[in-house]
Amino acid sequence: MKAVAHTFADIELPRPAPAGRDLLVKVEAVSVNPVDFKQRIASPPAPLRVLGWDAAGIVEAVGSEVSLFKPGDAVFYAGDVTRPGCDSEYHLVDERIVGRKPKSLDLAQAAAVPLTAITAWEGLFDRLKVKAGGMILVIGGAGGVGSIAIQLARIAGLTVVATASRPESVAWVKEMGAEHVVSHREPLRAQMEAIGRKEVEYIACFNDLDQHWPAIGELIAPQGGIVAIVANRNPLSMDAVRAKSATLAWELMFTRPRFKTPDMIEQHRLLGQVADWLDSGKLRGTLREKLSPINGENLRKAHERVQSGTMIGKLVLAGWS
Ligand SMILES: NC(=O)c1ccc[n+]([C@@H]2O[C@H](COP(=O)([O-])OP(=O)(O)OC[C@H]3O[C@@H](n4cnc5c(N)ncnc54)[C@H](OP(=O)(O)O)[C@@H]3O)[C@@H](O)[C@H]2O)c1
Repeated sequence: MKAVAHTFADIELPRPAPAGRDLLVKVEAVSVNPVDFKQRIASPPAPLRVLGWDAAGIVEAVGSEVSLFKPGDAVFYAGDVTRPGCDSEYHLVDERIVGRKPKSLDLAQAAAVPLTAITAWEGLFDRLKVKAGGMILVIGGAGGVGSIAIQLARIAGLTVVATASRPESVAWVKEMGAEHVVSHREPLRAQMEAIGRKEVEYIACFNDLDQHWPAIGELIAPQGGIVAIVANRNPLSMDAVRAKSATLAWELMFTRPRFKTPDMIEQHRLLGQVADWLDSGKLRGTLREKLSPINGENLRKAHERVQSGTMIGKLVLAGWS
């Protein structure tokens, strides 16, 4: 089968065979996320690795213990960073972290969704357990995760303030449903005061935790909740959040598959709900850029695009030449 290595070399690999709860998926489209370039940078040139943790495709074959899917089903999923990625024609993935592809999206549109939707869902609902009526500040609103998180927060009944720093990203976060927009390049506290809020019940930090931590401490309401998805580079002072009895939760969307937690099937369930909401129009897809076919040259372009830190919504590679 065709595959693309982390060096962007186009390679041939043996087609894997599914066992246990694994599906063998014929991959039709893949999305690129920051985890791809982070894993690439962390990997030596040899041995070759296959990256990619966002896919849509068709189930080709199933392991003996599979009960949720059958050959021919269209699926979308993010996968498990501790296993080979999906930048290959065929790919093995545990059925418990796979969802049915939304009917209303094509395979490329579907591939844009899973990793960011799982992150946003787990961050808001499993970690923060948000309650309707509060306000959330989404830091990094126009990126892949922010684009879905804004929409999920609105569905949950929150008022959303999103950060965006350029005219095109400001327009996009408004399209996603943000009621207010502030710039992450300007002091956040003054901008929040300008929209009449000194504090917010929830803060979701999807970018540069070190930069935003002082403002997060100022803006989080007493007993509020903060979720972070990006590691801090330096030690963070806990003084402000401790004084306010605020909760700091970490969200890593690979935790469930990586540690095979007893509730890892929650990712199957949440992807099912996300698919239903996409099909009913409650959620909208976030695909903005598409490259074809899936090969080393296009994957290199996609990594460069994502690594630039200027993505709005999602980028997908579709089809094999
Ligand atoms: N823990 C997890 O499970 C998990 C899951 C997914 C992603 N992540 C991590 O979360 C981060 C975001 O992922 P993503 O896919 O949303 O990335 P992305 O799509 O590449 O994010 C791009 C956006 O980041 C915004 N941005 C750039 N610099 C910023 C800053 N200093 N402060 C706030 N926003 C800034 C830009 O907005 P403007 O253009 O308006 O400046 C741009 O729209 C990455 O570091 C990724 O590795 C973690």
